[in-house]
Amino acid sequence: MIRLSETSVAKIEEICDRYIGEKTPLMMILSAIQEEYGYIPLEVQEIVSAKTGISVAEIYGVVTFYSFFSLKPKGKYVIGCCLGTACYVKGAGQVIDKFSEVLKIKPGETTEDGLFTIDALRCIGACGIAPAVSINGKVYPKVQIKDIPGIVGELVAEAAAAEGGIA
Ligand code: FES
Repeated sequence: MIRLSETSVAKIEEICDRYIGEKTPLMMILSAIQEEYGYIPLEVQEIVSAKTGISVAEIYGVVTFYSFFSLKPKGKYVIGCCLGTACYVKGAGQVIDKFSEVLKIKPGETTEDGLFTIDALRCIGACGIAPAVSINGKVYPKVQIKDIPGIVGELVAEAAAAEGGIA
């Protein structure tokens, strides 16, 4: 159970007000909240429900149906492995498996230290450089299995450096 600050509650209510008159208000509200906070826990869904009159069950159904909404916070680095056709035929299945093996989490999960989340994505529009992986918006081209420990290691070092730790 999380406790939301008054500021957060006010912000969520303001987002609801902003989109309530739209044709598809729920999708727009949830997208804006996901963008602002990175996830949409039950407590937030309850505020949206109270504000819009849409049932929590319906909101929960939408949040869990679409993979770009998340019930839990994502990691500092979100590793989006494209599993679209072009990437898949170039080995994207092995790429995502290798990230899972190195990080010891399944796709959709976040490491315990909160550093990494693995997401399976559809085509990200980079088919010419398949298999492509997008990490926090940066696209890594033609990723090979052997590259993956190095990619993860660089991000771990980057995170440690950002915290002033020893990389
Ligand atoms: S299928 Fe992966 S970028 Fe298009």
